[in-house]
Amino acid sequence: MKKPIRVAVTGPAGNIGYSLLFRIAAGDMFGPDQPVILQLLDRASPESQQKVTGVMMELDDCAFPLLAGLENSPEATTAFRDADVALLVGARPRSKGMERADLLNANAEIFVAQGRALNEAASRDCKVLVVGNPCNTNAWIAMKSAPDLKPENFTSMLRLDQNRLMAQTATQAKVSVNDITHAAVWGNHSPAMFPDLDHALIKGRPALELVDRSYYQETMTPIVAKRGSAIIEARGASSAASAASAAIDHIRDWVLGSGDRWVTMGVPSDGSYGIPEGLLFGFPCTTKDGRWEIVQGLELSDFARATIAKSVAELESERAHVAALLG
Ligand code: NAI
Repeated sequence: MKKPIRVAVTGPAGNIGYSLLFRIAAGDMFGPDQPVILQLLDRASPESQQKVTGVMMELDDCAFPLLAGLENSPEATTAFRDADVALLVGARPRSKGMERADLLNANAEIFVAQGRALNEAASRDCKVLVVGNPCNTNAWIAMKSAPDLKPENFTSMLRLDQNRLMAQTATQAKVSVNDITHAAVWGNHSPAMFPDLDHALIKGRPALELVDRSYYQETMTPIVAKRGSAIIEARGASSAASAASAAIDHIRDWVLGSGDRWVTMGVPSDGSYGIPEGLLFGFPCTTKDGRWEIVQGLELSDFARATIAKSVAELESERAHVAALLG
């Protein structure tokens, strides 16, 4: 039997946690012959811990053959001990009347503490995916708070945005998502993102021969960028199962390799395409042997550059705000 992979998950009592944990334990993240140990971290409050207990009872009741261990602690250094993968899902949500700066401050506190705990306790090669919003800036904070871990192992989730772009394109072009390659999303996981069809192919043909360019720019781009709000309006709650599914996709492709497929990951910029170095930014990537690489040499249209610049401005302003808090 293979050595189990230790997966730390924060926010297990929440909505995304309730989809994510069961899929990891079922083998969807690492494949059907890879055991996992789940290490859970939620808030120490009795309400949160009681919910975690309930989720653990259900995980037990599934009798998952691949679930080699199930641990829970409200202490980050305990929950992150020797973690090979850390999924940072739990975050402070924006409450009514809360200013953006207050949201950044509240989350900065969480992600400084969790970054430090990862630095102290996690495996030296721990792969970190930040899902909790604002995920790009939270990932940057965690990366800065974990100086002994590899900066390139801190990533944020834009895969849901890529999946949404693929689904919209498939519907519009009346094809299967399996027919689409080279679709990606650049920038921030926010309405400023840039869903990129310029390089996408459908059955090997340019996607924009099958999807009208003005429909793509004027209608599809805002649909993808504002899909999160549309889900909240329709469901009365934010995306959970689709977010969990994207987290599974992100880690699976990072660990097992993407082959020729492009996968969108929020990664620390190496300066590619003029994106300021170190900024946690969504890029089209390929992955191999547990490492990602930004796809190089793409031509960016004026529309692409102008839209990408919005994410840069937004993320630089968030980074400047939280950098002051990190000292
Ligand atoms: P939720 O509110 O249902 O659950 C959040 C959970 O995190 C709760 O159990 C809460 O107790 C826990 N939590 C809060 N602070 C914590 C801390 N310091 N340590 C450990 N646990 C903590 O929220 P949901 O729906 O599960 O969403 C989680 C996050 O994911 C939110 O920030 C949401 O905005 C974000 N999200 C990101 C997406 C993306 O594409 N990047 C997509 C959808 C959601």
